[in-house]
Amino acid sequence: MFSQITAAADFLIQKGLQPQIGIVLGTGLGKLVNEIKIEQEISYSDIPYFPLSTVESHVGKLIYGTLSGKKVLVMQGRFHYYEGYTFQQVVFPINVMKLLGIQYILLSNAAGAVNPEFKKGMLMVLDDHINLQPGNPLIGPNEERLGTRFPDMSCPYSKALNDLLFQIGARQKLNLCKGIYAAVPGPMLETRAEYRYIRRIGADAVGMSTVPEVIAAAHMGLQCCAVSVLTDECDPDNLAAVNIADIIAVAQQSDALLSNLYKELVGAI
Ligand code: HPA
Repeated sequence: MFSQITAAADFLIQKGLQPQIGIVLGTGLGKLVNEIKIEQEISYSDIPYFPLSTVESHVGKLIYGTLSGKKVLVMQGRFHYYEGYTFQQVVFPINVMKLLGIQYILLSNAAGAVNPEFKKGMLMVLDDHINLQPGNPLIGPNEERLGTRFPDMSCPYSKALNDLLFQIGARQKLNLCKGIYAAVPGPMLETRAEYRYIRRIGADAVGMSTVPEVIAAAHMGLQCCAVSVLTDECDPDNLAAVNIADIIAVAQQSDALLSNLYKELVGAI
């Protein structure tokens, strides 16, 4: 796998990419791209060994350019375990970004709110997570060139980045909340009993992504933060049927908020 990561990174280095910050845009979230002075757009299908995106709401390309004075590399479309990828494939682009020299990774996703105080449309800064997915990208022989065998997970979300997010959020008058994200395998949404369980074990939101990337980032010593756009309220006692079109529509409504938040964060890093 390491030789494939290196091959993909070499391909991008040869194209002149020198990003400082990596950004992953989740389901229904893409407006940040409009703020970037784009230098290059590279389809995943053109990059050696890159997995291909299968979800319709994900575009499937890397965007390189300048945002708030910094060189950024944005993944428009991420890979999910439920699509059939291995966890190593899910985090392949994060590994590649590390070899390109990024030091920071900013992640985003759409998630369901299981904390009854958290409402649809709000942004939640991840403070911690619970991995309920059936595996993680570090299983197997450890790749010492990327990181240590037993990475510390006492604080996978950078306190410095989270402090900046709250300072910027206050300035932008965003109603940011902070919480714990539970990652499930998907692709089906949860049953009432599962939402009840997820709440009871201490999560505030639930989604199908992000945690593999955060684990890879911790392994490689990257500074990381993640923001969930809360797209549905998962109250097990009054559970409305959710449909994915509604979830994407809510994500798109909050997309501008996330975009402004991350734009200013990149400037402040
Ligand atoms: N569950 C899992 N993933 C999700 C949800 C949810 O309720 N909403 C958006 N992504």
